[in-house]
Amino acid sequence: MAITIRIGTPADNAKIQDLVTKITMPGPAQMCFQRNPDFFVGAKVIGDEFVLTVADDDERPDVLAGLTVISGRELYISGQKRRVYYSGDTRVDPYYRRRGIASNLFVEQKKHRSTTDLLQGIVLKENTAPLDAAAKTADGVLFQYWISHSIETSFIFTRKITPRIPAGVTIRAASASDIPAMQAFFDREAPRRNGYPVYDMQKMAAGDPYYNGLKVEDYALALRGGQIVGMLAGWNQKAYKQTRIVGFKPAIKLLRPLYNLYVGIAGGFKLPPVGGMLNYLSLYNILIAQDDKAVFQGLIDWVMAHQGQKYDALAVGITHGDPLEEVPRGYKRQKLFSSHFWLSYGEDPRPGIDNRPLYVELGRL
Ligand SMILES: CC(C)(COP(=O)(O)OP(=O)(O)OC[C@H]1O[C@@H](n2cnc3c(N)ncnc32)[C@H](O)[C@@H]1OP(=O)(O)O)[C@@H](O)C(=O)NCCC(=O)NCCS
Repeated sequence: MAITIRIGTPADNAKIQDLVTKITMPGPAQMCFQRNPDFFVGAKVIGDEFVLTVADDDERPDVLAGLTVISGRELYISGQKRRVYYSGDTRVDPYYRRRGIASNLFVEQKKHRSTTDLLQGIVLKENTAPLDAAAKTADGVLFQYWISHSIETSFIFTRKITPRIPAGVTIRAASASDIPAMQAFFDREAPRRNGYPVYDMQKMAAGDPYYNGLKVEDYALALRGGQIVGMLAGWNQKAYKQTRIVGFKPAIKLLRPLYNLYVGIAGGFKLPPVGGMLNYLSLYNILIAQDDKAVFQGLIDWVMAHQGQKYDALAVGITHGDPLEEVPRGYKRQKLFSSHFWLSYGEDPRPGIDNRPLYVELGRL
């Protein structure tokens, strides 16, 4: 077999879907992160530009041996707008592993990057072995990376709830006439965190692909004296991104009906049958003036009581050290820990990044 690396195109979509479906995350419930039906719709949500590299096997033109994507998007870093590149979606067909394909996909990516580009990535906690090694190719060091933060993702179990809203605050769904005030609030609050994506509310409302599936009515606004003091949205991304259950360990298979009966009463994540999808809603564009925990909690409660009723869980990601990190911990939830790292094909980027809290947008990973 001869492996060649090239740039992927939309004509590869069917082969990409096949490859993605072959890769599952181990655990009691085997999960697959799918991008059905069009991988490129999801890619445009991760970045407004991206480089997709794929690996072909000359003997099997019907399959892809691997792929990786590096996406560019504008983020606030140290209070300034900066183009940052996100490395995600590295997948190698199990049949083709340990032959240097991942390394070669990153060698190809290097041609599209400069030594001063800032890159970032996220791996499930302690899963850095592949990165460690992929960083070192046969001819030396390809890239370097520096773990910077832990990310705590909470899948908050939804239930019937009366929102706990602080005195003097009202919470309601946003509408088109709120857009100028939302943008002004955004422009003031988002730069307080590193890594916050730069958002344009007009583009979102106009259906720009970077905001696929998001509407202004998906936003909840917290107001005090008519002024916005907090906002977030529930973003349903199932039309292009799914977490599908592809298998269970035998014991779990047996216990699933009993477990579902239990969570039906006590709250929790229902386990769909094999082939089914996890049903959660990602909390998006979280901004809370003065990091007021009660306002954040009020907004989570409000989304749970409204849009959230159609879902088993609300997903919220907060990095360690964020003043708001305690809030999701007050809910019944499933936790998932991952690590955020900065990455560079050249210079150490850390001197250009100050120590304000890091924001990670779950809906763009
Ligand atoms: C991680 C993954 C992309 C690696 O792909 P790959 O093509 O097998 O990687 P390479 O052959 O280029 O590996 C280069 C080096 O990385 C190291 N490495 C790769 N996979 C590893 C693993 N699972 N554990 C420890 N080291 C690993 C090895 O040192 C390897 O060199 P060696 O084979 O000479 O020892 C692949 O296993 C995969 O698709 N996993 C599932 C998806 C995933 O977890 N993606 C995110 C990872 S950040």
